[in-house]
Amino acid sequence: MWAGRFSGKPDKLMQEFSQSVSFDQRLWREDIQGSLAYAAELQRIGILTEKELADIRKGFEQITQEIESGKFEWKVELEDVHMNIESRLTELIGDAGKKLHTGRSRNDQVATDFKLWCIRVAREELKPAAVALVQAIVDRASENIGVIVPAYTHLQRAMPTRLAHHLNAYAEMIFHDSRVFMRHGAVDAQGRIALGSGAGTGNSFPVDMECLAKSLGRNLAARNSMEAVSDRDFALDLVFACAKCMAHLSRMAEDLIVWSTAEFGFVTLGDAVTTGSSIMPQKRNPDACELVRGKTGRVVGHLMALFTLLKGLPMTYNRDLQEDKEAVFDATDQTLACLRVMALVFSKENFKVNRERIQQHLDSGLGYMEAMNVADWLVLQGVPFRDGHDITGRLVKYVEQKGMRFADLTAEDLQAVDKRLKPELLKELSLEALVERKQVYAGTAKARVLERLAELKQWLGKDNDQ
Ligand code: ARG
Repeated sequence: MWAGRFSGKPDKLMQEFSQSVSFDQRLWREDIQGSLAYAAELQRIGILTEKELADIRKGFEQITQEIESGKFEWKVELEDVHMNIESRLTELIGDAGKKLHTGRSRNDQVATDFKLWCIRVAREELKPAAVALVQAIVDRASENIGVIVPAYTHLQRAMPTRLAHHLNAYAEMIFHDSRVFMRHGAVDAQGRIALGSGAGTGNSFPVDMECLAKSLGRNLAARNSMEAVSDRDFALDLVFACAKCMAHLSRMAEDLIVWSTAEFGFVTLGDAVTTGSSIMPQKRNPDACELVRGKTGRVVGHLMALFTLLKGLPMTYNRDLQEDKEAVFDATDQTLACLRVMALVFSKENFKVNRERIQQHLDSGLGYMEAMNVADWLVLQGVPFRDGHDITGRLVKYVEQKGMRFADLTAEDLQAVDKRLKPELLKELSLEALVERKQVYAGTAKARVLERLAELKQWLGKDNDQ
């Protein structure tokens, strides 16, 4: 493509080193989309005839078929997706193909293709995968509305909560992720289209950049050609969104790993998402969750790689930018895979709640979660909370020293600790009552949890593209 100025060819090693076609061929759809828009604009301003434009369109139809059917021959010596496609176009239609690059550079081309790719993958793949996961979690939450589990802070039993409320916490995280994916590339600075910016200083031919942007389904063209060809904020934002989503997935994976231990036993994960051990016949390992947790580091790593890539680049395009793609491709691939696997983990077949085991945990009285009932009750009797806290603390110490449970307390025990602990308190110690007192917005009371579930279901049921 640039042989005119050179007498020699790139070294074989250099060719292999410099090529990106092995991975950026994934941009082929957007590359053709951008070229079709650009060709139409070249025809409008008289650089291409109508016949040439028609030939270009036909040529791209054939190239599309070739790529889709796997017949297209990608050539490393043509370096990247852009040159492979343009070269094939010229092979097919001759001179009209050679005119296509008038005023255009791979710099505005790649910035455009890559942005369109990111927007498409965020909206058409990541967002639906996130929505499907929210759906699976909401389904499991609805089925388990009556189940009470310990909630933990510092991984110590803290207070009882509804399993549905706990699961809804995951649903909220992924609900937010799905909205971020949906909004990716919204019409603000990031949605602006670089096409028409040439190598970085604009186009010598009177292309209408707004028109180009519109024909690519976007509302706005870039306002500064230099910024446009070197901007990768859209990639950073997408990888950040992926990294954040992965951090959410990793946290749920961790909970499920802990919950499926013999010590907890809250859930059993199904055969489809667990594996056995090659030596220990009894094992059932939560590999799906462990891999999700493990892959999170990798996606966060891609975010760091991108930042490091971008931080010291001089204006405008630099070849360093070719390194942006694998980070984004892998970050989105891994996030997508993890969203899908977690939806499988949360499917009815694979997410089995062990209600009896959970009840045994609650009945054991370990962790003294009933204590909060006492402190709350004392407040309602007019005892200042700090004093109530102290009295309750002494009651916990009493129970602990005697090796008993709150459920075993008698009126005499209460009186032995503090005269303000009246016998009627004994009726107030249930964990269910404690859960039900959290009637506030966002609380664990059944009505509140059902309310939020209904909202999430409504959102899932409608066109959630907003
Ligand atoms: N493959 C290149 C990339 O991904 C395309 C742009 C190359 N531009 C150039 N002037 N060498 O960034």
